Amino acid sequence: MLRPPRETDVEAAYYWDRDPELAAWNGRPPISLSLDAARRDYLARWRDSSIKTFIIESGERAIGMATLYDFRRGSCELGIKIGPEGLRGRGLASETVRLLVEYATGTLGLDAVRGSTLEHNHRMQRVFEKCGFRRTGQGAMLSRYDDRRYTELFYEFRSGD
Ligand SMILES: CC(C)(COP(=O)(O)OP(=O)(O)OC[C@H]1O[C@@H](n2cnc3c(N)ncnc32)[C@H](O)[C@@H]1OP(=O)(O)O)[C@@H](O)C(=O)NCCC(=O)NCCS
Repeated sequence: MLRPPRETDVEAAYYWDRDPELAAWNGRPPISLSLDAARRDYLARWRDSSIKTFIIESGERAIGMATLYDFRRGSCELGIKIGPEGLRGRGLASETVRLLVEYATGTLGLDAVRGSTLEHNHRMQRVFEKCGFRRTGQGAMLSRYDDRRYTELFYEFRSGD
């Protein structure tokens, strides 16, 4: 199930943002803010109507987060993470991405949903492929996690394809 974030989700979000592995997959360092400072940031972001954040719930447990952002020219960008390592590879992200695409193209009436991932993130590439995204290109990105250069792959789902 996808639902809006609540104040009680702050600690889970903070825990995930401090996880070095999750940070590396997103090309940024784990956050170094205090929990209180992070709480203020999260609550402000979750109220920001230009970003749509969803908590992914499985069995009434918050197990990850997905975001739709950078809305422009009839499309938006999608981001996702499944927090606990033991819950990855069970189809939860694929189900989430399908729901988000349905919401973005149906409820929001967008023409396209964009995504990107690192070239060595084979799991995320598989999720995009399974959910009907096609590769649109690639680029170089400097990861702020380790200051190394990586290849980033770009994907797009187009409504009606
Ligand atoms: C990437 C991520 C969101 C995918 O979520 P998930 O719930 O594990 O994904 P799913 O189980 O829906 O699908 C994963 C697919 O990748 C496949 N896969 C897993 N490891 C793989 C590998 N090393 N190489 C190729 N495919 C792989 C799985 O078999 C599955 O495909 P299948 O259904 O055809 O068998 C999740 O693993 C995660 O949060 N990772 C850390 C953060 C991250 O990478 N976020 C994305 C940043 S762009």
